Amino acid sequence: MLRIVVLVSGGGTNLQAIIDGVNNGTITNTEIAGVISNNKNVYALERAKKHQIPNCCISSKDFESREIFNEKLLAAVDAYKPDLVVLAGFLVVIPPAMIERYRNRMINIHPSLIPSFCGKGFYGLKVHEAALARGVKVVGATVHFVDEGTDTGPILLQKAVEIQPGDTPEVLQRRVMEEAEWKILPRAIDLIANGKVSVKDGKTVIAD
Ligand code: GRF
Repeated sequence: MLRIVVLVSGGGTNLQAIIDGVNNGTITNTEIAGVISNNKNVYALERAKKHQIPNCCISSKDFESREIFNEKLLAAVDAYKPDLVVLAGFLVVIPPAMIERYRNRMINIHPSLIPSFCGKGFYGLKVHEAALARGVKVVGATVHFVDEGTDTGPILLQKAVEIQPGDTPEVLQRRVMEEAEWKILPRAIDLIANGKVSVKDGKTVIAD
């Protein structure tokens, strides 16, 4: 049974997709051991409570330095004894010690087809604003392992979504979430839970 801890910062729609996947059997062999938010009073925590999933908030506002916050965050993750850490809309720079400890055992969902529209400053609506400004015809989402860079780790799954005439950043964000993020993040977890994924020379290998 794969124990996962899901890190969130906001609405938690990707967390909900994981919860639904575990409950409806599209994610097998997986247990959500806990949910950690860096923000209080976010709906993602309500989603965890509604499903009796252990949860906590580790907010940088509660600690006198970033270093202490980083230590507390890693301790909170470790406390759930996860096999896999899932960043689901988590908008915090991951501490180097956490990247090291969970190397190739920590995944992130990014709302673009990496390497487009990713890296520092590309998160949330900004990603979709940039895609529309560039005039691309296809966008999408990526699940990747987390390494020391920003959105630079080995890519695990990607799914494309077509731009529609008249798309606004908000409409596009919603379509990418519905048609891509909420599908590939659960699928990535299920693949890992069933031992189908390995990383070789910085690239993922998915067994059929
Ligand atoms: C989404 O745009 C997702 O792509 C990004 O964070 C945003 C909010 O996600 N990773 P959620 O609704 O909190 O899961």
